[in-house]
Amino acid sequence: MSTPRQATAVAASNIALVKYWGKRDLELNLPATGSISVTLDKLISRTTVTFDAGLDGDKVLLNGEQDPTKAARVLRFLDLVRRTYGVQERARIVSVNDFPTGAGLASSASGFAALALACDAALGLGLSRDELSVLARRGSGSAARSFIAGFAEMHAGDEADGTDAHAIDLAPPTQLPLRVLVAITTRSEKAIGSTEGMRLTEATSPFYGAWLDATRADLDRMRAAIKNSDLELVGTIAEGNCLRMHGTMLSTEPALLYWNAATVALMHAVRALRAEGLGAWFTIDAGPQVKVLCDAHDAAAIQARLAEVPGVEAVISAAPGPGAHVIEAGA
Ligand code: DP6
Repeated sequence: MSTPRQATAVAASNIALVKYWGKRDLELNLPATGSISVTLDKLISRTTVTFDAGLDGDKVLLNGEQDPTKAARVLRFLDLVRRTYGVQERARIVSVNDFPTGAGLASSASGFAALALACDAALGLGLSRDELSVLARRGSGSAARSFIAGFAEMHAGDEADGTDAHAIDLAPPTQLPLRVLVAITTRSEKAIGSTEGMRLTEATSPFYGAWLDATRADLDRMRAAIKNSDLELVGTIAEGNCLRMHGTMLSTEPALLYWNAATVALMHAVRALRAEGLGAWFTIDAGPQVKVLCDAHDAAAIQARLAEVPGVEAVISAAPGPGAHVIEAGA
């Protein structure tokens, strides 16, 4: 019997400064527009994959639990890897996040980036970073960006097969003295996941076309703001883009309302901080947590203020960080 093939990879979450909300192809998971993100140095997934001819089926352990619903996506991804690269063995996957289980923080970006990289290393596929980004995208669109250190741009791509829909470097982690304060307002899981939410928006929102046009314009503005190390402009564009995405979500039928009372209180708190002269801007994904962008020098003061907002359970402070990497390969 052949020796099991094993590798471990780590990847961090990334926060989109210009969001991805809409697909041009569901099967290949191709985004309708590009997006721009910053990879963090916190909120990390660590994933070990073992391809083992001795296994009679795939085994998936996510944060110490066997959850069939969450495992289903991972199993589909494993089948894709086996189909694409001619692999026969079943696999064991053990993935842990360095943030509390069920913290209501998205883990699909870090999780699928770490999984794609661990598969590549375990099987010795030798995929380039672009190819890894394309592969991880099939698991989750945002995962394609977690291979890039610091600031990344995801290309929507033109090719029908999606080979040019991957992330590229925009700027290193040191480009801006940025901190991302992640304010947790609830520990429960989100109601409607991104994949289903996007499908509903595409099908029903009268604002969907305008959202895509505005996002394409935001990409050009954001790229320039990052290149010019203009944190105020980065924050301003990010907040506006987030609000346009949520406006589009709210115009979906049934409406996608991802905010709770604390989410809204945090938005007001950030605007109040700005009125006091502190540079702080919010961004929110498909859930109730609020990510606040600010200068590293102001981070401690702003973190303390966010922690006082009613309904806030914790505030995690993160900086721009490295891209996904392998930490152990070989049986
Ligand atoms: C609001 O990457 O989770 O966070 O490709 O269907 O898995 P799928 O969606 P996902 O969507 C992320 C949506 C977002 C914005 C963003 O991160 O760009």
